[in-house]
Amino acid sequence: MINIGLLGLGTVGLGIVEILDKRKDELKAILGSELRIKKILVKNNSKKRSIDIEREMIATDFEDILEDEDISIIIEVTSDLENSYEYIKKALNAGKHVVTANKAIVSKYFEELSSLAREKNLAFLYEASVGGGIPILKPLREQTAINEITKVQGILNGTCNYILTRMFEEGMEYEDTLKMAKELGYAEVDPTADVEGYDTLRKLRILGTIALRGKISEEDMILDGISSITAFDMEQIKNMNSTVKLIGEVNMEDDKFTAVVQPTIINKDSYFSKVNMAYNSIVLIGDNVGELRFYGAGAGALPTADAVLRDVIDVVNNSYGKINPLGKREVQNNNSMIKDKY
Ligand code: HSE
Repeated sequence: MINIGLLGLGTVGLGIVEILDKRKDELKAILGSELRIKKILVKNNSKKRSIDIEREMIATDFEDILEDEDISIIIEVTSDLENSYEYIKKALNAGKHVVTANKAIVSKYFEELSSLAREKNLAFLYEASVGGGIPILKPLREQTAINEITKVQGILNGTCNYILTRMFEEGMEYEDTLKMAKELGYAEVDPTADVEGYDTLRKLRILGTIALRGKISEEDMILDGISSITAFDMEQIKNMNSTVKLIGEVNMEDDKFTAVVQPTIINKDSYFSKVNMAYNSIVLIGDNVGELRFYGAGAGALPTADAVLRDVIDVVNNSYGKINPLGKREVQNNNSMIKDKY
């Protein structure tokens, strides 16, 4: 029996409980032992839930989970930006493997937390932090051992892609589309991180740093969001047989990189123009493998939970951390070469 401590029972947490329940037998057969959620950290224990959780599984104090010696894996899906960094650090220091979907924390601290995990011979994995259900970080890590990656490019935010798709298809104004995205549950109540591009920037920093085997910081990137795009702009773009997508892109040449997140006009026949609604896609170019395209659901309870559980499988199979995500390569920011364009 492998015991898990689940931090958070929001959308993704519920997705994890659902998948573990419905795939219980298959997981046991494949992994050789049962994966069981032993305790769940919740903020509010009086909240009505869509599923029945045994009372003894619920914890409102993180220390209850930290001190439970049966628990060897912590899954962090709290969206609690204040506490999650401390939770992860404490869990690693207590000898527990950590899997998280929290891209803000991963983008800010992944070098530090990865070093701590390596020091302790533990896993710190975060596949779900980029591209939702798309398997991207694990294949990317593997590719960096075999290839020089010269480009990583992606539509990395489902909310923005949904808004831009509806604006293009229906000629709607940005504000009306955003309102609709909120009603449908795509956009957050405060959608700033999505529409101003910060969410894409964080995901691109994680991708870029792994891809180049050298550190790219959030401050190293040129950033522009989608909130100033109007229905009139979209109409003009459409008249040019083009569309607009929020694209994050890192390019590398001779140890010099450029890193940009910006709304980009692309031809209607190009690959990214076919990535619509809340879908995400990432394209890589490696010197041996050539171009690789990854496509799938960039958000949502079950796709994100799926990515989290793939990391858990790697922890159980002891197949984590064999490729160091912390490249020591010296890379230089070459954004000044392209800055005039923005
Ligand atoms: N807010 C994010 C998005 C969720 O819209 O893509 C998934 O990271």
